Amino acid sequence: MIIGVPREVAAGERRVAVVPVSVRRLLEAGLEVRIETGAGSESGCTDEEYVDAGAQIGSDPQQIFAQADILVRVQTLGSHPGTGQHEVEMLREGGCVIGMLQPFSQPELIQRLMSRRVTAFSLDLMPRTTLAQSMDVLSSMSTLTGYKGALLAANALPKIFPMLMTAAGTLKHARVLVLGAGVAGLQAIATARRLGAVVEAFDVRSAVKEQVESLGARFVEEEAVTPDAEDAGGYAKEQTKAQLESQRMLLSKHIAQADAVISTALVPGRRAPILITEEQVKEMRPGSVVIDLAAEQGGNCELTQPGQVVSAHGVEIHGPLNLPSSLPVHASQMFSRNLTNYLLHLVKDAGLELNLEDELTKGPLVTHEGAIFHEGVRAAMKK
Ligand code: NAI
Repeated sequence: MIIGVPREVAAGERRVAVVPVSVRRLLEAGLEVRIETGAGSESGCTDEEYVDAGAQIGSDPQQIFAQADILVRVQTLGSHPGTGQHEVEMLREGGCVIGMLQPFSQPELIQRLMSRRVTAFSLDLMPRTTLAQSMDVLSSMSTLTGYKGALLAANALPKIFPMLMTAAGTLKHARVLVLGAGVAGLQAIATARRLGAVVEAFDVRSAVKEQVESLGARFVEEEAVTPDAEDAGGYAKEQTKAQLESQRMLLSKHIAQADAVISTALVPGRRAPILITEEQVKEMRPGSVVIDLAAEQGGNCELTQPGQVVSAHGVEIHGPLNLPSSLPVHASQMFSRNLTNYLLHLVKDAGLELNLEDELTKGPLVTHEGAIFHEGVRAAMKK
């Protein structure tokens, strides 16, 4: 069975789905790997390293797509800039694709996958269970996002993070507020703490209080925690308008006191909740920064422009997109490890064997045999 690894073609995407170490594991499982020339060049993986690991290299993306029994990729499928064709049309009819497909926001892609009877797995739908941890690309990528978010805050501030006692006087530490303490938020806390900032954090899920405190940060405004804020999968539920309003009021003073606010709050399948209003930005000291890591889902700050840095009321508001791609070496290593673990879970005796009763097989399965398999995606298509 052939695993095809094309170059990523989305604008600004520097990662690759499979690194050479993973090629070896796939070969040991009896699979073949065909990779497009230069696919790993921005992730520090040369064509020679892929060949040494046992992969076959080819320069024609059309061949890689057409020959692959399973095509793997980081980003979702779209129009291919080299061929002008939609990538789903380049896949073999009835073939298989695995990647972060973002199926909820792509009804047209889902239609195409169905009409070509493609079996499509979206790794961003992996259940967040202990069993799936080694395949959880969302956690891997969020870890890097949180780390880079804290560095962006440190870089953008006109002051340093740590307290310094020098012959030129004592410099006060910076105050960082992290909103949303999931995987990205916790890594942002850890990174800001390592750099010496004093960190406060908040999340609607009370379960994270202990994790926040174990990283040396203060959990703020327990009264703003929403009882029953977590769904069965461990994700935050969407807050009501009244809940969000009272949460904003309680957090106002913490936002005003912060030098940097790093926000990461997300609710699956929804626009990110607004936690920082323009009024609250006005209350921040000039020179403060907001790093809105929820920008891809619309942003946690009312003033965020996804992909841009804007200045308002003396505050810089950053809406960075796809931060893992700015760390392509480690992001590709982590993605590739997660993906390979998943491939090896799906493959038995060098063939694709789908046990549709298995949580890990069916959780990320979006389309199969010409129909939408995933309930949530089916519901989203009807909206
Ligand atoms: P996420 O990226 O969906 O959201 C980030 C954070 O924002 C979450 O902690 C969420 O509670 C918070 N949030 C949402 N609305 C908010 C609001 N209005 N105000 C403040 N905070 C708000 O979350 P992530 O990082 O993907 O984690 C989701 C869940 O999955 C967590 O419970 C996490 O512990 C769990 N998880 C489990 C794993 C496992 O067992 N294998 C691995 C990774 C995560």
